[in-house]
Amino acid sequence: MADDEYEFGPLRRDDPEAISDLITRMDGGRGEQRLRDKSAAYYRWMYLDNPAGQAVVHSARLGDKVVASFAVAPKIFQVEGRRVIVGKTMDMFTDPGHQGRGLIKRCTAAVFAGARDAGIAGWYVTPSVNSYPIFRDRWGYVEDFSLAYRTRVLRWGPLLAAFLRPRPVARLLGAVLGRLPRLVPRRRRAPRGTTVELLESFDSEADRLWDSVAPGYRVAMVRDSEYLNWRYVANPDRYTCLALRRGGRLVGIVVLTETIRRGVRVGEVVDLVCPAGGDTLRLLLRVALTHFRREGVALVQAWSIPGTGLDRRLRGAGLRLRRGHVKFLVSPNFPEPAVHDPEAWFITQGDGNDV
Ligand SMILES: CC(C)(COP(=O)(O)OP(=O)(O)OC[C@H]1O[C@@H](n2cnc3c(N)ncnc32)[C@H](O)[C@@H]1OP(=O)(O)O)[C@@H](O)C(=O)NCCC(=O)NCCS
Repeated sequence: MADDEYEFGPLRRDDPEAISDLITRMDGGRGEQRLRDKSAAYYRWMYLDNPAGQAVVHSARLGDKVVASFAVAPKIFQVEGRRVIVGKTMDMFTDPGHQGRGLIKRCTAAVFAGARDAGIAGWYVTPSVNSYPIFRDRWGYVEDFSLAYRTRVLRWGPLLAAFLRPRPVARLLGAVLGRLPRLVPRRRRAPRGTTVELLESFDSEADRLWDSVAPGYRVAMVRDSEYLNWRYVANPDRYTCLALRRGGRLVGIVVLTETIRRGVRVGEVVDLVCPAGGDTLRLLLRVALTHFRREGVALVQAWSIPGTGLDRRLRGAGLRLRRGHVKFLVSPNFPEPAVHDPEAWFITQGDGNDV
């Protein structure tokens, strides 16, 4: 294939279908893995409908196929009390038959230039094992800290069955361990006057909640109703949005979804809107655990930055086990020093794009 046969350019009308096709083909999950939606509708929603602005996308095409693609989505952040447009990189893929020819290099260069033109100050990356050495070692992306999952096991059986061999032993051990929590006294009930309600959409009440809690955070995505409605209500994927009320007043929001990881049903704590202090985060996670227990998932998890105050609060709320290692990089010359301080971030899986 001569390199000049590729055609490069920004997003076109039919590209969401072709990008969906490329990414679905490369996904390779074979039913063992189901994270977020990867349909053309998802890419249309993600790239075109974002209230913070359209994503900057650049692809390499061969005929009617997209063979490489890359995007940066703008996100409205609050950094040290100011509104800043921050980017999130996503969907960096080159068809295996076309790798190593500089296709992603051209796509990323065009996207980074476009992002700067669109007023995006800097961007953060949650790279895969393949893109991590490219961003960090070749392009000088900065790694100040990494993320991990804070988890709680609700059902040992399915977890052990997925990881332990032989299977009958795993099932037996899972059943024994599954009975253990009953020996431990039940946790306290939610305080009197607290109620939980399913939210179909977000309105000015959610805006008031965000306005009241926002000053407690140094680096955080602006979780106002416009963002929450786009991210969780208009999304082609499905999320469960729960409101916590005290005396009828909205005091916290938790957004949940379910994934399949290595064949195991996982309850994902996708987002949280709550004060930076106090006990609301703990109460929201109790709501999440109750929901997921009812749904029958094996494991509940949330993103954390190990060693930070957020991490201590997640552990205190019952997500005690630490699992995995999610790489986290920021672009070189990011003009906001606070992004290098792990303690400054309030981050949830909703700030990423896996779920
Ligand atoms: C990662 C991926 C997108 C690279 O695409 P590509 O078109 O083959 O990359 P290019 O040929 O444009 O190379 C880009 C740069 O990365 C370097 N590179 C490519 N593969 C590399 C590797 N495995 N290790 C280290 N560097 C690598 C190239 O040398 C080049 O460096 P340079 O900018 O200094 O010249 C592609 O391998 C891929 O799709 N992998 C699977 C999906 C994936 O993991 N995507 C990342 C999701 S975040």
